[in-house]
Amino acid sequence: MATYSRILLLTILLISTSIQTSAEKWSNAPPPCNFPAIYNFGDSNSDTGGMSAAFGPIPPPYGQDFFHGPAGRESDGRLIIDFIAEYLGLPYLSAYLDSLGTNFRHGANFAAGGSTIRRQNETIYENGISPFSLDIQVTNFDQFKSRTSELYHRAKKPFDKSQLPRPREFSRALYTFDIGQNDILDGFRKLTMPQLKAALPDIVEHFASSIIHLYEKGARNFWIHNTGPLGCLPAATLYITNPKPGFFDNYGCIKSHNSMVIEFNKQLKSRIDKLRKQLRRASIIYVDVYSAKYHLISNTKYYGFTDPLKICCGRHENNFDVWCGQTMIINGSEIIGVSCSSPASYISWDGVHYSQAANQWVANHILNGSLSDPLFDVTHACLNH
Ligand SMILES: *[C@@H]1O[C@H](CO)[C@@H](O)[C@H](O)[C@H]1NC(C)=O
Ligand SMILES: *[C@@H]1O[C@H](CO)[C@@H](O)[C@H](O)[C@H]1NC(C)=O
Ligand SMILES: *[C@@H]1O[C@H](CO)[C@@H](O)[C@H](O)[C@H]1NC(C)=O
Repeated sequence: MATYSRILLLTILLISTSIQTSAEKWSNAPPPCNFPAIYNFGDSNSDTGGMSAAFGPIPPPYGQDFFHGPAGRESDGRLIIDFIAEYLGLPYLSAYLDSLGTNFRHGANFAAGGSTIRRQNETIYENGISPFSLDIQVTNFDQFKSRTSELYHRAKKPFDKSQLPRPREFSRALYTFDIGQNDILDGFRKLTMPQLKAALPDIVEHFASSIIHLYEKGARNFWIHNTGPLGCLPAATLYITNPKPGFFDNYGCIKSHNSMVIEFNKQLKSRIDKLRKQLRRASIIYVDVYSAKYHLISNTKYYGFTDPLKICCGRHENNFDVWCGQTMIINGSEIIGVSCSSPASYISWDGVHYSQAANQWVANHILNGSLSDPLFDVTHACLNH
């Protein structure tokens, strides 16, 4: 059972200026980067089968709306990383942890649901925190790079090389990141708000060390998502009774949680500004996923979605919670956490993870670069652009 999926539950846009600058940029029309591969690092927002391979498959109805069955993803269909792959004309990423039916010719995915930037000193059996913290994912990458290169050079027949990345393409690949939300969610659980706030610089510094390490190993093109509005996750708001006035914002999101995320994002952005000066031969793009998600949540009707705090899959009633894909016997009757009839009209698929429709909406709003700093479309997110 996907314990880590439950865990996570414990788990204004600047458009006018962007359009202008972006238009200026396009008038010079630089050629696209033609990334040969994507290497992704992250948590359940971009896990395409890592935790499923390591700890047991995610059950149906996950995956039902695109893959026609569970596909190692915590959604009813594609994740933002899948839309990035589509946009770049590359195949969906196989998980590094998955030993079956994988193809790494155009990249690999090191993301694992429940992962944090910092090591958490707890096992997955406590609160679903993944053992694959960002530093471990980077270690996995190092090993992936050296071993695939070795295998590639040793391979005699073209077939033996067909599922391996070209060693020379590592420096031209796109390195994508979507991680941080579980450090913050874990902090909400274990620390006071001032303690968590005081820990943010260390979390950001660990993030930066991973980027620096990858740069030293030859990575040059980085696409880094900030963290979304965690205070708007239905799972976070589910158990709150008798909130004090002002606890929620106009859309029902927990204000203090979102403020913490905004502070994390601010520190991340400023650390990335410094990294850009430090790592001279890199293109490092900071992507404001928070604004995209919050804009969607605050305009759900306009974009054709239902109440952002409603969950499509799972059943939550006064006396019980049956999470998506789970079955419980309650007073002798079996209750199943099934999918709603119209997943595409929900933002939240299971209370923690976004639906495919919402992921697609967010992807449409970030991939063209309008929420990027600097303002690059993902196809132009490389050096010399
Ligand atoms: C990017 O796409 C979004 C969604 O389609 C659109 O609202 C925005 O204006 C686009 N921005 C640019 C710079 O093309
Ligand atoms: C984990 O434990 C080590 C050693 O006690 C400590 O330095 C580190 O800060 C802890 N990590 C977290 C996230 O609490
Ligand atoms: C199960 O039955 C007991 C006794 O009738 C009742 O108090 C309780 O609320 C029921 N639980 C649920 C989840 O319906």
